[in-house]
Amino acid sequence: MNEKELVAVHAAKRVHDGMLVGLGTGSTANYFIQELARRRVEEGLQVTAVASSVVSTRKAQALGLPLVALEHLSRLDLYVDGADEVSPDLTLLKGRGYDLVREKLLARVSDQFLVLADPSKLVDRIGARFPIPVEVMPFAWGLVKRRLEEIGGGGDLRQTANKDGLVVTSYGSLVLDMVFDPALETAALNAFLNDTPGVVEHGIFRGLASAVFVAVDGKVEEHLAKQAGSE
Ligand code: A5P
Repeated sequence: MNEKELVAVHAAKRVHDGMLVGLGTGSTANYFIQELARRRVEEGLQVTAVASSVVSTRKAQALGLPLVALEHLSRLDLYVDGADEVSPDLTLLKGRGYDLVREKLLARVSDQFLVLADPSKLVDRIGARFPIPVEVMPFAWGLVKRRLEEIGGGGDLRQTANKDGLVVTSYGSLVLDMVFDPALETAALNAFLNDTPGVVEHGIFRGLASAVFVAVDGKVEEHLAKQAGSE
């Protein structure tokens, strides 16, 4: 079992009969979807799933997992997803895919949000390895970019892999991939992005993860979020 599979199987043990479970997106989350489908077939696990993206919808459908649409959702028991970066306080960077809004909605409405990572994802600060994805309304991208430049941000609209077009998210937004001064605190950047008109959503997931599971030397380490008010 590789590291991604190991953490995914570990997380799938947290799923019990009758749960409503959010499915993440990406290569690590795919292992979780597979394991959930296996447990359903082989162990008779009663589970209903909600997908965080078009890709994970298709994957879950192909494996026969019962799905409900996000429109019918008021809460979730558990959401399990990967991340692009994880900082020591369990803030995440996400959104390399096309469904950032759905991912953050699921993270917010879930009783527990478990994040699957491998050691390559652990960073000292958010933005250390990847630009921050900022999903913008198409007509607003220029104004948003200018506002982010005023606080020292640099970057541009994300292009397709062949660089022959712009990336358009599942719901028709564009994505600015932005790099900021490392001295800018993640909390301040998060607040600034939340307060920028034209931004549909952005890739900083702060205060949302309940736990991060990391496979190290064949074992799963559990990093638990501090409870609000504890210090
Ligand atoms: C999708 O938008 C991202 O947030 C993914 O969760 C992230 O890219 C992790 O993908 P991997 O598990 O493939 O690294």
